[in-house]
Amino acid sequence: MIHKIILFCCLNLNVFSFYENDFYYAPAVNQFLKNQKKLVNDLFDGYDATIAPIYSQFDLSKPVDYDLMGPKRFNYSIFLYFLKIVEVIEPEEKVSVILEIAETWYDARLTWDPTLYNDIRILYVRQERVWSPTISSFKINDMTDFRDQDFRMVGVDYRGHINSTVSLKMSLNCPLDVTKFPFDTQTCVIQFSLPLFAFKFTQLFNQIYHGILDKTVWKEMGNSEWELVNLTNRIDILSYGDGFGDFQLATFEIKIRRNPMYYLYMIVLPSFIINTLSIIGVFMRKSDRMSKVVYYLINYFTLLFQLNVGLTNIMTMTFILGVMADKIPKTGSIPLLGIHIVVNLFITVVAIGIIVLIGKFKKSVSKKSVMSQKMERTLEDWIDIICMVVLEAAIFANFFVIIGFWIWS
Ligand SMILES: *[C@@H]1O[C@H](CO)[C@@H](O)[C@H](O)[C@H]1NC(C)=O
Ligand SMILES: *[C@@H]1O[C@H](CO)[C@@H](O)[C@H](O)[C@H]1NC(C)=O
Ligand SMILES: *[C@@H]1O[C@H](CO)[C@@H](O)[C@H](O)[C@H]1NC(C)=O
Repeated sequence: MIHKIILFCCLNLNVFSFYENDFYYAPAVNQFLKNQKKLVNDLFDGYDATIAPIYSQFDLSKPVDYDLMGPKRFNYSIFLYFLKIVEVIEPEEKVSVILEIAETWYDARLTWDPTLYNDIRILYVRQERVWSPTISSFKINDMTDFRDQDFRMVGVDYRGHINSTVSLKMSLNCPLDVTKFPFDTQTCVIQFSLPLFAFKFTQLFNQIYHGILDKTVWKEMGNSEWELVNLTNRIDILSYGDGFGDFQLATFEIKIRRNPMYYLYMIVLPSFIINTLSIIGVFMRKSDRMSKVVYYLINYFTLLFQLNVGLTNIMTMTFILGVMADKIPKTGSIPLLGIHIVVNLFITVVAIGIIVLIGKFKKSVSKKSVMSQKMERTLEDWIDIICMVVLEAAIFANFFVIIGFWIWS
């Protein structure tokens, strides 16, 4: 019983203190709410949110803005204030981004004289109360608008300018040029349009918030693999030259650069080490101070071993090529990394070819005097060393070429 009373008291206290909060009794707030109510009643009296305020009686046969004193085209502006690269799916040439956008347009029916409403200049209302242009993306795979329709608000000012915000996730179709992979830089465009309204009725504008035109901010906009390196905006005109269906595209262009470290650590460096070692392995020889039988036996197994090293290396390289192939679109151009691996593969094949040739050569010279055999063996050793040095030099050169591309890209 007692705790019920206490609870009741507490509730009452809360309730009373809520109502007794001076702020809610502040005369200014009361006055404001009254004025706002009056404003809303006047403003939306006879307003139909399903009808567009776009003037459509321009003479379409004449150029845009032919009458400088006449009505102006409907203005619609997009203002980009944040962007985040989510992922790049190379084989499908898709780039996903998250965009935070503010849009502004103008509705001549929603204007008032602030002096009549105690200087109320801005009104915040649910978006469904006012007419809104439908922002459309152009050439986009997929677009998700995160906002719940019921919770969208707009700000209207007394001159009829309306602001709204949009959070979008877009999946862009972006042709990727992977010739410099993994040191590639890609350019993608994000385009918006107002498709229904002819280009002569409406005018699009786009802008980027200057706060995000900054390299330190761009660092946060990329993901772990891709870094944003430039962000620009422009208005493109889509035209097929026949005057039909010309329209404007509000275009944001992003330039992204791949972080190549993953490929350097996971492909270039291991393949360099494997190749360097396997070239040594392929040309490795046993000492020749041995009996004849043992010498031939060892020679035979050494050849097997050498071939094995070489073939394993070829398989490894092929596997690495496969890993890389999963990351690039199936275009006609061979990426830099692909060329690097194929050159490595080629060097290994050359090494195996030399070993096989030397093996054949050895058989043909085996029925000779001890003296000439000794000479042949010394010659073979020298050939081995020279081939090894040349091929190792080729492996190193190949490695430094790709490192050079990394440094200079
Ligand atoms: C649209 O923007 C242009 C350029 O800023 C301006 O000249 C024109 O008056 C604007 N039109 C309207 C209806 O506000
Ligand atoms: C709309 O946004 C512009 C630019 O940020 C700002 O100047 C204006 O006051 C905003 N209007 C409303 C009604 O919020
Ligand atoms: C971004 O691109 C524009 C247009 O291509 C260029 O003028 C500008 O210098 C570039 N900015 C940076 C930081 O590269």
